[in-house]
Amino acid sequence: MNRSELPESAFIDPYGGNKVAVKKLTEEILELVFSHLQKAYTHSPLPELRQLPFLTSIPNTHTPESEILEKLKTVLNTSMNPANPAFIGHMDSIPTTVSILGEMVTAALNNNMLSLEMSPLFSRLESLLIKEFTTLFGLGEQAGGVMLSGGSLTNLQALAVARNVKFDALERGLTAQKYPPVLFASEVAHTSIQKAAMLLGLGASSVIPIKTNINSQMDVSELKRTIENAKQIGLAPFCIVATAGTTTTGNIDPIQEISQVARDRNLWLHVDAAYGGALLLSKQHRQKLIGIECADSVTFNPQKWLYVAKTCAMILFKDFATLKNAFRIQAPYMRQTDEFINLGEISVQGTRHAEVLKLWLSLQHIGKNGYAQLIDESYRLTNYFLKQIEKTSFLELASNPQMNIVCFRGVPSWVPSAEWDTWNARLQTHLLENGKIFLSLPSYRGSCWLRAVLLNPYISEETIDNLFGEINNYAST
Ligand SMILES: Cc1ncc(COP(=O)(O)O)c(C=O)c1O
Repeated sequence: MNRSELPESAFIDPYGGNKVAVKKLTEEILELVFSHLQKAYTHSPLPELRQLPFLTSIPNTHTPESEILEKLKTVLNTSMNPANPAFIGHMDSIPTTVSILGEMVTAALNNNMLSLEMSPLFSRLESLLIKEFTTLFGLGEQAGGVMLSGGSLTNLQALAVARNVKFDALERGLTAQKYPPVLFASEVAHTSIQKAAMLLGLGASSVIPIKTNINSQMDVSELKRTIENAKQIGLAPFCIVATAGTTTTGNIDPIQEISQVARDRNLWLHVDAAYGGALLLSKQHRQKLIGIECADSVTFNPQKWLYVAKTCAMILFKDFATLKNAFRIQAPYMRQTDEFINLGEISVQGTRHAEVLKLWLSLQHIGKNGYAQLIDESYRLTNYFLKQIEKTSFLELASNPQMNIVCFRGVPSWVPSAEWDTWNARLQTHLLENGKIFLSLPSYRGSCWLRAVLLNPYISEETIDNLFGEINNYAST
């Protein structure tokens, strides 16, 4: 092909022709990224983006690389900065080094998880790793699953399989269904459950919210009552969703009790352990997930507490055969083998990034003990954080944390309670502007709260002391 309009390093020449030009560009970009990350603490955790300085139309001729590098500097300096230990507002973590580099390798190889032919090693590696996780979750010999790009997709696929199994809906959908299907999730379950119900043609209101106790855990008596009421008014319950690590407060539903309710009523049990699934790697904390082994399906996001660069999520099924029998759509354009099902046939995604490499690299590099230490240490810091809240009379907790998420707010006696939301929202701004600390500002039970997620391995007592110092400064102004 005539490539005269292209820059020399547009592609990596498979004949090695442009090695010098490509190497220069690669080294310059890597240097830019790593020197930025190595001083991430000096950049705001959430830089202000006043304008998009380089948002120009697509140029007719190629842009000089020096100009692209300058623009990349702006990208680095104006993007969310979860590598900063003072970024403690979301479940978004500093990524493991090998997951950053693994992303580069994955992109360089550009395989496709759609079929075995297009990702011979990665498809098999994904299945092997999925097996390791099903074992870790105690799901049994018959378990299996697939990786997907994020927790919303895994929840969607879990509910699609649950619906298809319970209503034999793979071929005929819900046309023969006399009674409207409903499922149950706690009132604080992730909104992706409603989104999934909407996409599955059940409607968002088919997710019946179950009240939670003071610690944001599903009230099991209320669950039983609500299921009975639903049946009495002609609805068709088919699934219960338990959450292991609620998004706002990090609490865990009583999975074991819920699993009994599901079993007694022949309902599908899905556990959304997008965040909390990581606890299985900690001997000290894994018992918090007791009952998860009874789930029919489990969502788990290594992109959260396993520090794998986004996106990286998996959906696990107790019985892999349900995926084949109640979800698989064969693709005639993909080569079939008897020994291995093309992952694209049993997944909501078709063409898919090989996210497994960065997960595998992270697990190899850090190991079980490394992950256990990260989890256990974040509990230690959470306890330290909680002590500071206890010492501060004008702060209250939203719930008793069961993970490394602390949701709290100011309830200053000298401010009328009707103004507490504004007071807390201004506190969040004060922390970012004056302390360069980012906490998120969730709405919870109708009020405005602050949320800390103590994920970053470089958070220390000093980070927490600085935060509380700034909170006290704000309160005294
Ligand atoms: C409990 C839970 N489930 C599901 C999700 C959705 O995951 P994603 O944002 O990767 O789609 C989240 C996201 O924070 C979550 O906290």
